[in-house]
Amino acid sequence: MVRIMPSLLAADFANLQSAIESVPGADGLHVDVMDNHFVPNLTLGLPVLESIRAATPMMLDVHLMITDPDRWAPAFAEAGAESVTFHVEAAAAPVRLARELRARGARASMALKPATPIEPYADLLPELDMVLIMTVEPGFGGQKFLDLCLPKIERTRALLDRVGGDVWLQVDGGVSVETVERCAAAGVDSFVAGSSVFGADDPDVMVTELRRLALAASA
Ligand code: DX5
Ligand code: ZN
Repeated sequence: MVRIMPSLLAADFANLQSAIESVPGADGLHVDVMDNHFVPNLTLGLPVLESIRAATPMMLDVHLMITDPDRWAPAFAEAGAESVTFHVEAAAAPVRLARELRARGARASMALKPATPIEPYADLLPELDMVLIMTVEPGFGGQKFLDLCLPKIERTRALLDRVGGDVWLQVDGGVSVETVERCAAAGVDSFVAGSSVFGADDPDVMVTELRRLALAASA
């Protein structure tokens, strides 16, 4: 199963409603929360997430690029996000946090920056519903895909296959028609795409194209 999740970071923040309506074929909407501490950029917080929640029934995939997710992440689950991703580099108690997210009805997801290895966290995987391997340094859209992340994606896929269950494997950063196939071939099933989707003439056509390429490459 391939999931394409457009990142609203690349949309017009003054017209989020029309951005949402421009990708009806997407499997979910990726919402980037940045606090200007964990990353050198500032986006949106809980009030905006609540407004997005009220505006659409689509799956909301919240990516928290914040310090102290232990304190702030559960509120995003309570606000109705179907998936909440915290960065393991920022989490003080990732197992407790993952359990708190699941207890609030959300999928619990853990993100790794490009230089963070997966191996120290292998035993945590049964606590998770998704692993996000960042393929750029988090903080900004429109960056170049980092090929150096592909071996880690393959190793994560192998670990997840060993664990079994239905843990999704997501990439975020520089995903486009140029890079989506490499990721799918390495075992990714969930693709965040910001500038490639919202920079396209027809965002929904791009969603369909990314899905087609990913499906073909993962088959
Ligand atoms: C970057 C964000 C991404 C961003 C990706 O830190 O986490 O979700 O929107 O943008 P593109 O797809 O343009 O690289
Ligand atoms: Zn993101």
